Amino acid sequence: MQQQSTEPIILGTEELKKKWDEFSKIFQELLEPSTNITAYSLVSLLGIREQNDKVLRILDLGCGGGGGSYLIASSMHKDGHLTSLDLSKEMIKLTEEKCQVLTQAPFNRKIDYVDASAEELPFEDETFDAVFSNYCLHLVPNPDKVLSEVSRVLKKSGRACFSVWGRPANSPQFTVVPKVIMECKKEWGMVDNKPPVRSPFHLHNRDQLRERVLSRGFKTCLSWYQFQPFHALNAKEFTELNVGTPDIRNLLQTVSEEQVQQFKTKMETYADEIYQSNNPMGNEVTIVIATKE
Ligand SMILES: C[S@@+](CC[C@H](N)C(=O)[O-])C[C@H]1O[C@@H](n2cnc3c(N)ncnc32)[C@H](O)[C@@H]1O
Repeated sequence: MQQQSTEPIILGTEELKKKWDEFSKIFQELLEPSTNITAYSLVSLLGIREQNDKVLRILDLGCGGGGGSYLIASSMHKDGHLTSLDLSKEMIKLTEEKCQVLTQAPFNRKIDYVDASAEELPFEDETFDAVFSNYCLHLVPNPDKVLSEVSRVLKKSGRACFSVWGRPANSPQFTVVPKVIMECKKEWGMVDNKPPVRSPFHLHNRDQLRERVLSRGFKTCLSWYQFQPFHALNAKEFTELNVGTPDIRNLLQTVSEEQVQQFKTKMETYADEIYQSNNPMGNEVTIVIATKE
């Protein structure tokens, strides 16, 4: 009898493109207000400041709906140059719309947009002074390839900053949601035997991530955990926001109204336990900042 593989599924480039194209608008509305909180940290750590007299060339890797790009472009030197890159053309469109105002007078910031994979960067060696990447590294099929590419396109002594999801035990937002989906699917007899998709937390360990970064051409690297709160302030709001995401919306379209209610009640109950304990709703983030040799 053939043994079934239990290796987790890693989404390939084409699947990622499709997923993020479909998720783009909802991601921007629902999750970008939270990811922007971390974007502020990364921009601050990269030393991208308008008053800085150094003119920088900056790359936003996996720019999504443009929250980070907007922040970089409005913070950088007036003669600086930002390149916003993403695999998803829909995401690039959103970034372009968001940053348009900054490319016009009186700001006149230089921004270009590139749709490409972070695993194969279409840039010459030593092009950028700084690389910013907020919540992208854990999604790519091969994160080590991305680290090597970032090191290649950075100038000597250039800085790179990454954020990825932190420890699951400290991340109630992204553990409650899959738990509710799994329990409901089980109760509704919808469990399949497919291997699980690779966990979005797979790079969470700050020490291991630091070692991986240092083995890819960086001379210094600091890493730590910090918390990123989610803007839903009670269990009802949390549930309403989450049922709008593509995976849950697609699931709930296939079941009865009664099951939809059951799903919402379960999610509200689990979320309420967190709110009632007076702990913040959100996720932990692992931050890495590295300097090239
Ligand atoms: C979680 S979103 C983060 C977006 C944005 N940086 C933010 O913080 O709001 C991840 C982004 O990475 C992009 N992405 C995923 N895999 C990628 C790859 N291999 N190359 C480039 N971008 C990728 C997705 O299309 C998506 O826009």
